[in-house]
Amino acid sequence: MRRLLIVHHTPSPALQAMFEAVRAGATTDEIEGVEVVARPALAGSAADVLAADGYLLGTPVNLGYMSGALKHFFDLVYYPCLEATVRRPYAAYLHGNNDATGALRALESITTGLKWRAVYPPVVVTGEPGKDDLDRCWELGATVAAELGTV
Ligand SMILES: Cc1cc2nc3c(=O)[nH]c(=O)nc-3n(C[C@H](O)[C@H](O)[C@H](O)COP(=O)(O)O)c2cc1C
Repeated sequence: MRRLLIVHHTPSPALQAMFEAVRAGATTDEIEGVEVVARPALAGSAADVLAADGYLLGTPVNLGYMSGALKHFFDLVYYPCLEATVRRPYAAYLHGNNDATGALRALESITTGLKWRAVYPPVVVTGEPGKDDLDRCWELGATVAAELGTV
């Protein structure tokens, strides 16, 4: 059994809806052999990252950056996981009021440093997530799970 870790900061209903859609995609019955574990970003640890085979990251855009919670997670895990997690697949979803550029740049920079492998373009939603937005979140979750399991 391979493990997919969702690390998320979920401070609002919009992000909760996105998180649930991502988790639903990741746990779809069409993909076998993948166990999904979710951790709020402030509770995530290097042990969680080392025990997983792929990652889903969720964050609001705050002050032009990823949330402080997700940044704190990366501050904790970056060096302990630097060598062990190279080439592991990941994808990210973000929610903002207007502009996610800075948060996207920061996530790109950190995941490039870790040498993680993006397997789906970041899903960025502004305002209330619509059906298309949540479908993209589902697809994002299912895509990373499919990298790890058998379809
Ligand atoms: C302190 C703070 C800073 C924020 N900064 C940004 C920002 O720089 N860019 C942006 O698009 N949204 C920003 N937002 C909006 C949040 O991304 C948004 O509140 C969050 O995604 C949850 O969405 P909701 O409030 O519509 O439920 C900020 C929110 C807070 C509380």
